[in-house]
Amino acid sequence: MTAHLTIVDHPLVQHKLTLMREAETSTKSFRQLLREISLLLAYEVTRSLPMTTKRIDTPIEPMSAPTIEGKKLALVSILRAGNGLLDGILELVPNARVGFIGLYRDPATLKPVQYYFKVPDSLADRLTIVVDPMLATGNSSVAAIDLLKAAGANNIRFLCLLAAPEGVARMKQAHPDVPIITAALDSHLNDHGYIVPGLGDAGDRMFGTK
Ligand code: URA
Repeated sequence: MTAHLTIVDHPLVQHKLTLMREAETSTKSFRQLLREISLLLAYEVTRSLPMTTKRIDTPIEPMSAPTIEGKKLALVSILRAGNGLLDGILELVPNARVGFIGLYRDPATLKPVQYYFKVPDSLADRLTIVVDPMLATGNSSVAAIDLLKAAGANNIRFLCLLAAPEGVARMKQAHPDVPIITAALDSHLNDHGYIVPGLGDAGDRMFGTK
């Protein structure tokens, strides 16, 4: 995968995203749609995994069959909204290793501050997929990827549901080696840092908090 930004324009993804955007969509439906869409996005983000072959015996005869090469993937969720994408991806890649990064925004400096960091070992040997539904300012994504690179990750992809041009630009400037895979690139951020037209606060909508 070489493009810095990939927009997954599959009809099922776009249809489900429209349902998720609608203000009237219930928490239950939002969560279900997020799960479904994350399976489709996981299909796309894993499209170019390196492959090898192994010898197997079918009931008919031995063959050389394709299999994914290398160590198990590392999925890293940026808390808390990342967990909504994580569950679906784990259904498709059940033996992935999983990490979590917790960041909050310091009200004085507006800079992301780490409050939790637990990631799989041997990140240097794994493809690391960072998941967070909303790429808004890009501050938390850039900070999370800074931390992952410091922990050894060197092959990272970023998976989100919606991206704002501001966040994509920030990521491109800070981490040009990290491809972004998203279902849509929206118009801009509003004064509160929300993606426009967006879908509101992804965490609140998936967990039913306000
Ligand atoms: N986080 C969200 O949940 N929604 C936005 O629009 C931006 C950041």
